[in-house]
Amino acid sequence: MSKGRIFSAMQPSGKFHLGNYLGALENWVKLQKDYDCIFAIADLHALTSAYADPSQLKENSYNLLLDWLSAGLDPEKNIIFAQSHVKEHSELHLILSMMTPLSWLERVPTYKDKLQNLGEQGKDINTYGFLGYPELMTADIILYKADFVPVGEDQNPHLELAREIVRRFNMLYKKEIFVEAQGLMSRAKVLPGIDGRKMSKSYGNTIPFAATPDEIRERVKLIVTDPQRIRKTDKGNPDVCVAFRFHKLFNEAEVPDIECRCRAGEIGCVACKKRLAEKLVEAMGQMHALRQKYEGRYDLMDEILEQGAVKARAIARQTMAEVREAINLI
Ligand code: TRP
Repeated sequence: MSKGRIFSAMQPSGKFHLGNYLGALENWVKLQKDYDCIFAIADLHALTSAYADPSQLKENSYNLLLDWLSAGLDPEKNIIFAQSHVKEHSELHLILSMMTPLSWLERVPTYKDKLQNLGEQGKDINTYGFLGYPELMTADIILYKADFVPVGEDQNPHLELAREIVRRFNMLYKKEIFVEAQGLMSRAKVLPGIDGRKMSKSYGNTIPFAATPDEIRERVKLIVTDPQRIRKTDKGNPDVCVAFRFHKLFNEAEVPDIECRCRAGEIGCVACKKRLAEKLVEAMGQMHALRQKYEGRYDLMDEILEQGAVKARAIARQTMAEVREAINLI
C-alpha cells in the first residue's frame, strides 16, 4: 500500500556530488519503496540561471538522469521524466501567474539572496522567469496533486508559497482542485568538502558522484586531517579531522577503532584514509556498475524519459482539464 504521492525534482546543473547524494538522493531511493513517486529533471528551472549559455544543459540533464539511475532510482517503479517534456508544467505556470500577487513572489527569501549571489557570479538574473522560479515549482508539485515533497530545508519557503497559491486558487474558483503538499524533511546527512568547508563545486572540494574507483581514491588522499599532526606517530585529534567525519558517514563500524588508534598515534593519516577510500569504493561499487550500464546509452535514457513523460502527461492532462473548466477557458 502506498503512503501517498511524492513529487520532487532537481536542477540539472552539472554539479552533482557525493554530498548531494547523501543530502537528498539517498532518501529518494528509500522513499520509492513506500510512496508513488514522481521525479522530474527540472530543466526549465535550470534555464533561469543558464539561459545565456545553455550549451551544457542537455548533457547535464542526461548526467543527472545517470546519477539517479546509478543511485538505484527505478524507472519501472517511479515516474522519471524531464520537466520540459510535459508541456502542462508551462501551461499551469502561466495560469497560476495570472492570480499570484507580485508581492508574494518578491518576498520569497531565496529571491533576493539568489539575485545577489548569482549576480556576484556575473549572471544577470533580473528576469521575469527568475522571479517566477517558485511559481514554476508550485506548478510542478500541484499538477500531480502531490501529498509530499522531499526537499532540503532551504526549499521550505517555496513549499509555503505553493500552499498559499493552492488556497487562493481553490478559494477563487470554489473548487478543491489542488492539494496542499507537505514537505518531507529527512534528517539530512551533511558531508563536508575534502577541505572541511561546505562541499560545493565552486570551492573545488567535492567528490563527484560520478567518480570512478580510482578517482575516489585520489580525492580521498586530499582530504584534510588534523593539521597539528606531522609524523604518523604523533597523537591525533579526530575531532578536528575531516577524514574522521567521512568515516562516521561511510565507515561507522570502524569508527571506535580508528578513533582510538588515531588518539594513540598508532595509525597514520595515509593508512587511515586508505581504509576510508576502500569503504567508499565498496559503497559506490554497485552504483558504479549501474552507471556503466547506462553511460553513453542515450537510446536507453531517451526511452526512460519518454516512458516517464507518457505517464506524467496522463496525470497532468487530467488536472489541466479540471483547471480549464474551473477558469472557464473555451
Ligand atoms: N528548486 C529545487 C531545487 O533546486 C528543484 C525543484 C524544481 C523542485 N521543482 C521542484 C523541488 C518541485 C521540489 C518540487 O532543489
